[in-house]
Amino acid sequence: MEEVVVRKQDTELEEVDGEENVMMNNQRLFGVFAYPVKHSLSPLMHNAAFRAVKLEHHYQGFEIHPDLLENAVAALRTLHIGGVNVTIPHKQAIMPLLDEIDLEAQMIGAVNTVVRDEQGRLKGYNTDGAGYVQSLLAETSVQLSSAKVLLVGAGGAAKGIAVYLLKMGCPEIMITNRTTSRAEELAGQLQQYSREQSLDAQVSWLDWPEVQEGSWSANVIIQTTSIGMWPHVEESPLPKHLLHKDMIVSDIVYNPLETKLLQEAKQQGAEIHHGLGMFIYQGAIAFKYFTGVEAPVERMREVVLEKLREGG
Ligand code: ATR
Repeated sequence: MEEVVVRKQDTELEEVDGEENVMMNNQRLFGVFAYPVKHSLSPLMHNAAFRAVKLEHHYQGFEIHPDLLENAVAALRTLHIGGVNVTIPHKQAIMPLLDEIDLEAQMIGAVNTVVRDEQGRLKGYNTDGAGYVQSLLAETSVQLSSAKVLLVGAGGAAKGIAVYLLKMGCPEIMITNRTTSRAEELAGQLQQYSREQSLDAQVSWLDWPEVQEGSWSANVIIQTTSIGMWPHVEESPLPKHLLHKDMIVSDIVYNPLETKLLQEAKQQGAEIHHGLGMFIYQGAIAFKYFTGVEAPVERMREVVLEKLREGG
């Protein structure tokens, strides 16, 4: 009797060993470079995604001090890491350390995804803007080809979003920003991008007070600043009376999911869109670059939402 049991265990072990060898061969390491990294939801999201599509890869948070970024990129090469996401404060600093940068990431001036190709070359992409636009298309009734967008903010996030809005066919963007000169500068850069890409879009900028007076018309408002983010949940960049039912109001903030701007937009009858989708889809696009496999978007959303509901 005992002998039989032992033999059975041996067989099981052999089988497990066999499987493990196959897994080891297919396993690759991915990760996120951040400083600090402990609040990043990317490891949770990507590891759940790998499991959902039955890939044996692992995704790891790497806390990289800014002074050590160059070493970290060298380690990417040496250790054959498949790719990484890159976040604050490394999105610009990593650019000169890569072999190639995708056109849109060059235009945006920031990289959030690095992929190692089969030849070992590191290519940088920016999936934030594309992720935002995919999320807007998937989660709202927006018709991009007739969208007149008011973009609130003129920083890195605004630029990434605007580039992809134009690339995906949006015909008109108006930019407003607390520091007007940055809105003007961004409008100039986007006009040039639109010309170079033969996109024929209209890009303008507005004074912050002009927006307050309502001397504009938009059917989509996209809030790209940190206004309204926890703990400043009582702040909103636009007065409620400027929001109405014939518009989509979108906020890239996802903590809280419903910012004051979105709550007021909802009260005014507008369709609302929160920032979680941008995070999910930037990850989904990166996942496709990393693995070549379509990302399990709903599973990714589920684990992130669960974590946020637990309180981050
Ligand atoms: P990100 O990459 O997250 O966009 P950024 O490039 O530093 O970060 O840009 C932050 C954006 O949020 C800017 O448009 C900034 O406005 P300024 O250009 O006037 O600084 C905007 N922003 C941040 N806090 C703000 C606040 N309290 N009120 C108005 N605008 C704010």
